[in-house]
Amino acid sequence: MNKKTLKDINFENKKVILRLDFNVPIENNKITDNTRIKAALETIKYLQNHNAKIIMLSHLGRIKTEADKKTRSLSLVAKKLQELINHRVIFINETRGKNLETAVNNLKAKDLLLIENTRFEDLNGKKESKNDPELGKYWASLGEVFVNDAFGTAHRAHASNVGIATYIKDSCIGFLIEKELTMLNKVVINPERPFVAILGGAKVSDKIDVIKQLLTKADSVLIGGGMAYTFMKALGYKIGKSLVENDKVDLAKELINLGKDKLVLPVDYIAAPEFKDIKGTNTTDQNIADNLMGLDIGTKTEKLFQDKLKSAKTIVWNGPMGVFEMNNFAHGTKAICEAIANLKSAFSLIGGGDSAAAVTKFHYEKKVSFISTGGGASLEYLEGKDLPGITAIKNKN
Ligand code: 3PG
Repeated sequence: MNKKTLKDINFENKKVILRLDFNVPIENNKITDNTRIKAALETIKYLQNHNAKIIMLSHLGRIKTEADKKTRSLSLVAKKLQELINHRVIFINETRGKNLETAVNNLKAKDLLLIENTRFEDLNGKKESKNDPELGKYWASLGEVFVNDAFGTAHRAHASNVGIATYIKDSCIGFLIEKELTMLNKVVINPERPFVAILGGAKVSDKIDVIKQLLTKADSVLIGGGMAYTFMKALGYKIGKSLVENDKVDLAKELINLGKDKLVLPVDYIAAPEFKDIKGTNTTDQNIADNLMGLDIGTKTEKLFQDKLKSAKTIVWNGPMGVFEMNNFAHGTKAICEAIANLKSAFSLIGGGDSAAAVTKFHYEKKVSFISTGGGASLEYLEGKDLPGITAIKNKN
């Protein structure tokens, strides 16, 4: 990798702008998953050990109305970070202005300052999300060096990553981005074979490019989750009331033709009359009765997918096999977790988002090789796309 890393820069007494991805799930005013905060600690501690004055930025959720600001303040993250790192975190409840500037100018070596949610700037003309040059320039003016370690946001070209990188002289990636790229490259560059990809989740439309790309790279691409029903419809099976994207049926046909034997589709389902956590029935084949909807893969499919995984040396998994949040439809997703956990000498990469949440929920996190902190970002990297948040960082000389 040609990007500058933390080791390439002298941070001694410098004001360092550090972009992190603290976009964590919050329910009833409580953070329900700290993974992304914990993933940021190594870089923060390194900067403290090298006597930097640390100015942290992150987004949290999407801000469309004034009311959104009430539930999307980073103040909870500041408290949690302070507890996890055991060091005071100065929280500034604004994204620009005198208070922020004074606090930045008063920083001493090792101090930690967190600025309010960068997307508060989206209320007024989407300045953050549209990479407003004045905003990027302003944030860049607060420091001397820029460190981007927000892997989860690397596929966005926003003011707080690309904007700042454009207007600051010195920049590098942090340890998390470095690790994520190293792990993703094990899949993208010369993967050990057999290479099996498992794709699930609700919509085909979210995964078209990654399916196409993986069909050229992987030995097998297993399809489960809500998006499988669009493929089933394309093949002429009855799908009952299951989730379907009618405007993507032709595209599914195209992918089936492209994939040939590589594309492995479910052969049975667990179906129920309603989208509710009630006991479902295992269908006898691919057809689902008119009054039912498919909510998980069936037992024959589990066996088929487990067999495909048995000899795999490289695995990438993005998207659950069913509605795993409901106990009655979690079995297929658990079966995939178990099949991966049973492999002793394979490299397994779990794309962020729902599949990462499933692996954690069913306690398989120690049994997989790597769980990415970025759902969209890891998908785009697997698609072969450029990640603008990383591209914007300076290259090594
Ligand atoms: C994520 O959670 O995928 C990242 O933080 C990016 O968030 P976004 O999809 O709202 O840009």
